[in-house]
Amino acid sequence: MRIIVTGVTGQLGRIAAETLLEKVPADRLIAVARNVEKAAWLAEKGVEVRHGDYNDLASLLKAFEGGGKLLFVSSSEASDETLRALQHATVTRAAKMSGITHIAYTSIFRAQESPLALSLLHRTTENMIRLSGIPYTFLRNTFYTEVFVNESLRQAVESGALVTPIATAGLNTASRADMAKAAAAVLMSDGHENRIYEITAPKLWTMKELAQILSDVSGKPVVLKPATAAEYAKILAGWGMPEPAAAMFAALYAQLDEGEFAQTSDDLTRLIGETTPLETVVKRALA
Ligand SMILES: NC(=O)c1ccc[n+]([C@@H]2O[C@H](COP(=O)([O-])OP(=O)(O)OC[C@H]3O[C@@H](n4cnc5c(N)ncnc54)[C@H](OP(=O)(O)O)[C@@H]3O)[C@@H](O)[C@H]2O)c1
Repeated sequence: MRIIVTGVTGQLGRIAAETLLEKVPADRLIAVARNVEKAAWLAEKGVEVRHGDYNDLASLLKAFEGGGKLLFVSSSEASDETLRALQHATVTRAAKMSGITHIAYTSIFRAQESPLALSLLHRTTENMIRLSGIPYTFLRNTFYTEVFVNESLRQAVESGALVTPIATAGLNTASRADMAKAAAAVLMSDGHENRIYEITAPKLWTMKELAQILSDVSGKPVVLKPATAAEYAKILAGWGMPEPAAAMFAALYAQLDEGEFAQTSDDLTRLIGETTPLETVVKRALA
C-alpha cells in the first residue's frame, strides 16, 4: 500500500519522509506539498511529488488519488485558528473521498482534556477524523524540545541567566526528529489503527536541569532566573517579538509551570526505541 505524506516541505514532514525512505522503496511514497518545487529533493530520490493545498479540496483529491495510508501533518497557518480548522476539515474530507485507509494525524498531548487554547484545533480535528470513519492514529505530540532549546539559549549562556516563567514544573518534551520517526514508524508497521499515542519523552526535565546542562556544555555558569509572565513577555518583546505574540507565549509558559506538560508516556519509546537526550538537543542548539 502506498504511503502519502503531507507537510514534507516542513521540518517534521521532511524527517518523516527521510525516515520512511530508509525503509520503504521510493515508489511506495507520495509526497504532498503546496509548493512542489520545495519538495524537489524528494522527486530527485524517485518519490512522486504531488501538489496539494489544504485550502483547495480539488488539489487534495488529486494528491490523494489512489488512496493508501496518510500522514496528515497539521497546518502551520498562524493567522487564524478558524481557517486552520477549515483546512483540516478539507484534508479529512479529501481523505474520505479518496479512499484513504488510515490517517496518522499530528495532534497535541492530551488533546481531549487539555485546557490550553491551542489544543482546541487538535481536539476538533481528532473529532472530525473520528466522524469520517477512517481508521486513525492520533499522534498526540508534546511540545518539541526545540521550542525551548534553540539558538536563543546562546543569550542565556552569554548573560549567565536562563530567564523563564517555567520555574519548577517538569516538562515532557521530545525532539522533533523523534516525533517524526514515531510518525514514520506508525506508517511502516501494522496494528496502529484506532490507537492514540501520547508522544512524550519517557522522563521529565526541568529548566533548572537545562541551566546545569548549559553550564556543562558551554563551560560558563548559567543559573535559572524565574520570571513572571508579564516580565517574560517584556523580554520576548525586547527580542523583537510582536507584543500580542509575546504575551501569548509568556502566558502559555506560565500555564506550563502549572504542570500541564508534566506527565509522561512510554508510547514514543515503544515506537522508536531510545529517545534523544536533552543534552544532545542543547549541543545542537549551541553548535
Ligand atoms: N509540537 C510542537 O511543539 C509544535 C510546534 C510548532 C508547530 N507544531 C505543529 O506541527 C506541525 C508540523 O511541525 P513542523 O515543525 O514540521 O512545522 P513547519 O516546519 O512549519 O511545517 C509545516 C508544514 O505544513 C505545510 N503547510 C502549511 N500550510 C499548508 C497548506 N495550506 N497546504 C499544504 N501544506 C501546508 C507547510 O508547507 P510550506 O513549506 O509550503 O509552508 C510545511 O510543509 C505544524 O504545522 C504545527 O501544526 C507543533
